Amino acid sequence: MARRATQCDNSALAAAVRSSGLLRLITEMADRIRDKLAAQIFGDGVAAAEMPAGGYRAIYKRLLSYARPYAYPDMVIAAVAMIILSASNGAIPVLMKRAIDGLSNFKDLHAVQILSIEILAVFVLRAVTDFVADYVTGYIGMRMAFDLRAEFNNRVQHLPLSFFHYTATGTLLMRVLTDAQMASSVITTTLFSMIGDSLTLVALVGGIFWMDWKLALIVFVVFPVGVIPVIRVAKRVRRMTRDAQRKLGDVSVILQETAQGCRVVKTFGMEEYESERFRTELRKQLRFIRRVLRISTSTDPIIEVLGALAVVAVLWFGASSVLAGTRSPGTFAAFFAAMLLVYRPFKRIAGANNAIQQGLISGERLFDVIDCQPEILDAPDTIELPRGLHKIEFRNVSFRYNQETEWVLRNINLTINPGEIVALVGMSGGGKSTLADLIPRFYDPWEGGIFIDGIDLRNYSLRSLRAQIAAVAQNTFLFNDTIRANIAYGGPNRSDEEIVAAAKLANAHDFISRLPGGYGTRVGEFGVRLSGGERQRLAIARALLRDSPMLILDEPTSNLDSESELVVQDAIERLMEKRTTLLIAHRLSTVRRADRIMVVVGGRIVEEGTHDELHALEGKYRKLFDLQSGSAPEPESAASPDRIVA
Ligand SMILES: Nc1ncnc2c1ncn2[C@@H]1O[C@H](COP(=O)(O)OP(=O)(O)OP(=O)(O)O)[C@@H](O)[C@H]1O
Ligand SMILES: [Mg+2]
Repeated sequence: MARRATQCDNSALAAAVRSSGLLRLITEMADRIRDKLAAQIFGDGVAAAEMPAGGYRAIYKRLLSYARPYAYPDMVIAAVAMIILSASNGAIPVLMKRAIDGLSNFKDLHAVQILSIEILAVFVLRAVTDFVADYVTGYIGMRMAFDLRAEFNNRVQHLPLSFFHYTATGTLLMRVLTDAQMASSVITTTLFSMIGDSLTLVALVGGIFWMDWKLALIVFVVFPVGVIPVIRVAKRVRRMTRDAQRKLGDVSVILQETAQGCRVVKTFGMEEYESERFRTELRKQLRFIRRVLRISTSTDPIIEVLGALAVVAVLWFGASSVLAGTRSPGTFAAFFAAMLLVYRPFKRIAGANNAIQQGLISGERLFDVIDCQPEILDAPDTIELPRGLHKIEFRNVSFRYNQETEWVLRNINLTINPGEIVALVGMSGGGKSTLADLIPRFYDPWEGGIFIDGIDLRNYSLRSLRAQIAAVAQNTFLFNDTIRANIAYGGPNRSDEEIVAAAKLANAHDFISRLPGGYGTRVGEFGVRLSGGERQRLAIARALLRDSPMLILDEPTSNLDSESELVVQDAIERLMEKRTTLLIAHRLSTVRRADRIMVVVGGRIVEEGTHDELHALEGKYRKLFDLQSGSAPEPESAASPDRIVA
């Protein structure tokens, strides 16, 4: 937009000096400045490695598209206000000239009164339009930031799980709060304030040339020279801003982590360490910010010195002509007024450049996420998975989290018949949770495929597939909401009776009733105000209420004492009735009821059968079972702790 500003200056200049020989020189200089400005603002000269695809110009255009919905009436109102504002700014020096020149000529008070009213009217008009322009553009900026945030969040909701494994929540927070704001300000500062300020500049410049073009030339040869140092800093500001913003993200990540992990921090006595870690990050960030600040604040003084130069030049040439009587004192005073008025918009235009640099980086960071490939897209010809019991088959499934890591699942063949309960047991890290995650398509297999009723999972629409799965995950997640809302999650229209019934089945009703707020009690972030077992029972109630034909239970009772476990076990048995269930458990007492049990070790199914079959097999399962039940082969040593550890 600064580019536009120079063009405007150019045309005004050009009109005034058309007859003089300076024309070519000045237009050439202005062209050079304009090209340089564009290159600086949009980073055309920046090394390819740090350029976003399509360059900053593309980001700018894209941000611009977010302003489009507010073209009418908001922007039109802002534009009209700006035009009136510029005109009233331009009128001030003219009025000034009339007032001062008139002082010696006024015959009566009437002329003075009229002039006074005119002056007052211009200033009131200026104030009103200034307010309207600022208010409307500010509001447009806010709405754009909202739109950006909403789109950002919407995209984040649809990103694959792996995205969250590699992105800290603090970083996302930064982007949605700070970056959205900064990015939208690119449009408000450039499109609006710079256009508004440029208009004011043009009006003032026009007024100045109209009054006295010779003096004007003096001023406006000095001023553009000042643009060059200002644009030189732009490139550096951008590079530094990028680093500073990244650092700010690091800081918020630490804060968020230590808040969530406060228990660990306290237990290990790491408060001081964490404070220091935070301070270190802050200091790093401070260094960056100080550099950015140093550069961005150097713009103002430069402009002020240039302003002083212009004033001195005008004083030098103007005063001598006033003394010689060839120039009226009014013109001279008007000139000074104009120069003072020029100062603010010019300063803002120069300062806007820094804001643009920061905003473009923010825009880049936002679009980085918005452009992320969303979760596994449905193929164009997907079919709906009908509601009901289904047969789930894993055929030669192999999976790893990414190219660099080891295989987590190798050649898995597994069939879960409609209504059957299949249990996965085995050592920690064996791949059980990963295997379960493949059914709702949190990930797709790298090799082989998963089939439901003989049709590849990928042929079903994701929505219809997930609609039929209820899961109790290994790490229960509760929202910072009421117990009622947490149980009814995914079915907001469930009645209170249904919610209570589910809670009763999950053996959660009693403890909920004892809470001061009952079902309306808020559970805190991640449900921190509940015990681990209570959380688990809420998760079971949630799954019960969802009433889905497919059930995935990943360690649903791991946090319960043996007595509660027995009761919840009962709830789970009821939950599993007439459903196709994949049950993962370490405690083998939980899986005895399963139709088939798979022992998963190192990503492979090493044993398969019913409890009795596996027990008889005397393999891994038997070993696990004996360890847990404390019934080692020789009864006399069963109680020995050594045996259990071994
Ligand atoms: N998001 C991930 N990215 C990379 N590797 C992962 C990821 N999640 C799990 N893994 C790895 O995959 C392997 C299997 O993990 P998984 O959670 O499936 O084990 P599990 O059998 O459920 O263990 P547990 O009984 O302890 O819950 C582990 O070695 C783990 O380190
Ligand atoms: Mg697991």
